[in-house]
Amino acid sequence: MTSRILGILFINLAMSAAALGGEYHSQTDIICSDCHTTHYSERGALPEHADPGGPFSTLLLVASADRLCLSCHDGTDPTAPDVLAPVTMYNGSGSEFSGAGYFSAPEGTVSAIAHDLGVDTPVPFSVPPRSMIISCISCHDPHSTSNYRNMILNPDSAGAPINIALDTDVFENFRPQVPPNRSATIAAYRSDNIGYRSGMANWCADCHDALFPNAPGNPPAHFQRHPSDAGQDGSGYHVNVGHWMNGSGDGFGITTGDNLEGVPRLRFQAPTATNYGSAVTPASNNQIFCNSCHFAHGGPYDSGLLWPFKIAGEADLYSGCQQCHYK
Ligand code: HEC
Ligand code: HEC
Ligand code: HEC
Ligand code: HEC
Ligand code: HEC
Ligand code: HEC
Repeated sequence: MTSRILGILFINLAMSAAALGGEYHSQTDIICSDCHTTHYSERGALPEHADPGGPFSTLLLVASADRLCLSCHDGTDPTAPDVLAPVTMYNGSGSEFSGAGYFSAPEGTVSAIAHDLGVDTPVPFSVPPRSMIISCISCHDPHSTSNYRNMILNPDSAGAPINIALDTDVFENFRPQVPPNRSATIAAYRSDNIGYRSGMANWCADCHDALFPNAPGNPPAHFQRHPSDAGQDGSGYHVNVGHWMNGSGDGFGITTGDNLEGVPRLRFQAPTATNYGSAVTPASNNQIFCNSCHFAHGGPYDSGLLWPFKIAGEADLYSGCQQCHYK
């Protein structure tokens, strides 16, 4: 009976998936048994990846979604992008990190450097104030969506869906491969493989809604909080476009945290991009957005920042800011 239900659901999911994006865990790539078990036993033994103590609700192999996802995404599955510190798979890839960076701790631990999994916490910059428990499936749909990386269409479950479609809002140079293999995974998920056009700030601000849109400031200020989706080409702006486009000197460097001032060029949005090439080309209308300064998951520095902005004495303390503002 159970397997018949799953069979019917599979057909439904496969049919509705025709309208979905080209991401893994979707369409023909989806392997139900990666995450579900029909009877919670394989010839009397536990199925691979299953936790003891089952069967669990919705026939999952592992009771908690976070632990389920991390059973592959913690570095133990060599073909799955590793999202839990320590992450070494991108070493030597040409990028220091993946697009989203990494969580500092498994479920249940509070950390100042990454989103916390499985902890009831206040949402910073939320009006009205509220708390929530976030997990992998607060941000990714396990059965895929039309969005890039299967990002949830509506993370706060209210208001209109937010689209971040691959090839429209985000571009990739190399696509992940199916079936997955390690070198293709590294090439596909490293941060320099991705170019951005639009949507991410809107999506993050579904939960952190006080940060976007940006309240205007009184002249000569333009903004009251650091803006996102603002280009460098507005009139009277306090940025140095020539320095940004040139890409060398103050702020720019090869490696983050190497005690030499300068970090790799921060990520930006190219609002008129039509492909990967145009999305990663420095230009005067390049926009700052959340991911210029933050990783979606987290990283080595406070507040999930890309560089050690809060660590006094670090050579890279202001490097990110200097790339655009050059003071
Ligand atoms: C990447 C892991 C993953 C894969 C692959 C996966 N699922 Fe799921 N599935 C989940 C998780 C996690 C939940 C629980 C969702 C929740 O609690 O909101 C779930 C819930 C469900 C549910 C019950 C609730 C709902 O959303 O309808 C059904 C039915 C289901 N999955 C069927 C399937 C079928 C059929 C396949 C294969 C086509 C599949 N799943 C593939 C992770 C997965
Ligand atoms: C059985 C191992 C396994 C499990 C369990 C698993 N994943 Fe994955 N996941 C993979 C592999 C392997 C890839 C890389 C596939 C590729 O890109 O070729 C991947 C890719 C992804 C991607 C990138 C998709 C894309 O194409 O951009 C996301 C997002 C993701 N997984 C989220 C999840 C979430 C959320 C869960 C838990 C609900 C989960 N995964 C559970 C193995 C797994
Ligand atoms: C589903 C809601 C949700 C979404 C979507 C979301 N966040 Fe968060 N975020 C939270 C919650 C809850 C916290 C507080 C607990 C914690 O630190 O994880 C938080 C904390 C943070 C922190 C502080 C982390 C720390 O430990 O100091 C940063 C930075 C952050 N988010 C940035 C982002 C960015 C950037 C995005 C978009 C890529 C985003 N958030 C999307 C819910 C969300
Ligand atoms: C606060 C929202 C949020 C949470 C929670 C979250 N993700 Fe992500 N994740 C994202 C976003 C946004 C991206 C795309 C970032 C980019 O490329 O700019 C992403 C990217 C990914 C990728 C692609 C590889 C990479 O590192 O860029 C994988 C795999 C993935 N997430 C898996 C997971 C798993 C597994 C969990 C739970 C352990 C999880 N995510 C929790 C928002 C989230
Ligand atoms: C990718 C480019 C970029 C980076 C990196 C960047 N900014 Fe900005 N910043 C801008 C843009 C564009 C504006 C809006 C135009 C303006 O007002 O100058 C802005 C505005 C500001 C303002 C407000 C000016 C006003 O008019 O109200 C301050 C202050 C500021 N940034 C400080 C910082 C700090 C501190 C950092 C590092 C943590 C930083 N910026 C990183 C591009 C950037
Ligand atoms: C110019 C760089 C920059 C941009 C762009 C930016 N942030 Fe931040 N963010 C920071 C810095 C630096 C901090 C550390 C605290 C501070 O100085 O305000 C921070 C802190 C945070 C915090 C954590 C506050 C806490 O309690 O720890 C959240 C949440 C956050 N940012 C979310 C976002 C979101 C969502 C966006 C996009 C809408 C965004 N940020 C855009 C630089 C930036």
